[in-house]
Amino acid sequence: MCGIFAYTGKNSKNAGEVLLDGLSSLEYRGYDSAGMFLPESGVVKSTGAVSHLRRKMPAGYFGKSGIAHIRWATHGEPTEQNAHPHKDCTGDIWLVHNGIIENHKELREKLSKLGHTFISTTDTEVLTHLIEEHLKKEKDFEQATLAALREVKGTYGIAVEYVAEPDKIIAARMGSPVVLGLGEHERFVASDASPILKHTSQVVFLEDGEIAVVTPDRHEIFKLDGAKVDRLAEKIDWNVEAAQRGGYQHFMLKEIMEGPEVVKNTLRGRLLEKEGLAKLGGLESVADEIKKAQRMVIVGCGTAYYAGLTGEYMLEEHAGIPVEVELGSEFRYRHPVLNPETILLAISQSGETADTLEAIREGKRRGALTLGIVNTVGSTIARETDAGIHNHAGPEIGVASTKALVSQLTALALLTMFLGRQRSMSIETGQEIARELLLLPEKVQTILDGRGKIEKLAKKYVKSRDFLYIGRKYNYPIAFEGALKLKEISYIHAEGCGAGEMKHGPLAMIDEHFPTMAIAPSDSVYEKVVSNIEEIKARKGPVIALATEGNDEIKDLADDVMYVPKTLEILSPILTIVPLQLFAYYFAREKGYNVDRPRNLAKSVTVE
Ligand code: AGP
Repeated sequence: MCGIFAYTGKNSKNAGEVLLDGLSSLEYRGYDSAGMFLPESGVVKSTGAVSHLRRKMPAGYFGKSGIAHIRWATHGEPTEQNAHPHKDCTGDIWLVHNGIIENHKELREKLSKLGHTFISTTDTEVLTHLIEEHLKKEKDFEQATLAALREVKGTYGIAVEYVAEPDKIIAARMGSPVVLGLGEHERFVASDASPILKHTSQVVFLEDGEIAVVTPDRHEIFKLDGAKVDRLAEKIDWNVEAAQRGGYQHFMLKEIMEGPEVVKNTLRGRLLEKEGLAKLGGLESVADEIKKAQRMVIVGCGTAYYAGLTGEYMLEEHAGIPVEVELGSEFRYRHPVLNPETILLAISQSGETADTLEAIREGKRRGALTLGIVNTVGSTIARETDAGIHNHAGPEIGVASTKALVSQLTALALLTMFLGRQRSMSIETGQEIARELLLLPEKVQTILDGRGKIEKLAKKYVKSRDFLYIGRKYNYPIAFEGALKLKEISYIHAEGCGAGEMKHGPLAMIDEHFPTMAIAPSDSVYEKVVSNIEEIKARKGPVIALATEGNDEIKDLADDVMYVPKTLEILSPILTIVPLQLFAYYFAREKGYNVDRPRNLAKSVTVE
């Protein structure tokens, strides 16, 4: 998730300053590199945050229009060469992009054959050369951009400038947000309203499949087929912070609400439904070693560890590969037995967690093949592992990890298909999992649409000082993750426990003041969980059951019920974790705590 910002004006404002200022408020979207292009003054790029770009701005860098970008790397390392804006061969067309171009490899090959020279390793650069190629035929900037975009598969929010028409900016949206800002003799284009609000509250949101042709006093919107679109401006009264949070009160809620998009982005270009296969480009370079692997050790910390634990169930049942899951902080001192037939898989949102990183280095010393499931492109773990899978979940700002986990579980399901189909998994099972994975974004959205009920429940139980979370099989790790979410943002005692393990001790804690969250989807161990709930009810313990839609009988047993749509057992954690994230969020918010910056914690733990 990058940030784009563009400006064209007729008044005395320096586009360079307007863009630099706007990029600062978009910095929460990424901080790998930044750059801008002004037709009058040329291009400036830098790695790192906006402050680095400001230092590189030459004196007298001035213009009346320009495009700018803040990068969160997805394709191509976070280098200056890969920083946006990108240009075409002539240097006349400049473009900034937020999103993922799925067919960038095919387009790059086609354009290279036509004589185009590529400078960066990004997916984005194909867009400038594609527009250049169509400009040769169309002789019109707008028509060339429309024709180029009709060839593109994937997601984009873009702003393009053509030096021959310096006050004109073309914006386009497919899957990534784009908003226009309408000011006095000036227009703005941005990924969200946060950089615009300082200048105007009049905005127009583009829809998917639309482009906008923007000049200081005009903006026209067209469909990709050229049809004109009339859309009224809206007045928004958010402050910049609220705009960054997309109008949500906290980044944590915004990131939970991004669940459906995050599943789509993690799956994008990686599922071959008909063949029942997963295509993981990031593992191609070590495909042979992976085929020979006899065992997998997954290592992670906190939420990433619980993702790994869920992956163990998926991989052992559906890929037939023996898996162990280790805490990073323990693994590095445990003298693990590893060899070249062992895959050591590190899971990390930030890619900088010291304990997980040292575990990888230990694995390398012992000859293991090291892989990563990492959200931050270019991070140390992403660079030091032999190969891996990027989550494409976008930057996660809230300290409590939410969307990254949803993406990690989705990536683990893809990895299970990838390894399973090399081993014992049938094409029918592969096709079934692929079909269900593609239905997940909608099912997650159904849960989010019902969040009002979860908020009520959280308010009902907010006085609780203790909470037990129980689950079995695929939802055993989710019980621990649910408890972790509540612990880390509401500061109460919350404990995960295998539902079958309760009677070996934890049941002693239960009484009418000690509620339990029982994760009980209609799966192969449902009946077992029901009997565990009965054990709790026998001790007058209040129970919130997390069940599958259509299961009415559980209402007679539990005090309260939260529902999730039906899906395959292997994928149920991707759904059951969402109500638990929402419950913890509303619980902590009701307590008035700073949900995004909980006490005593850091987003990335880079020390031991
Ligand atoms: C989870 O909400 C916490 N922020 C924490 O447990 C986190 O999962 C852990 O520190 C691992 O971080 P990583 O995924 O960036 O490696």
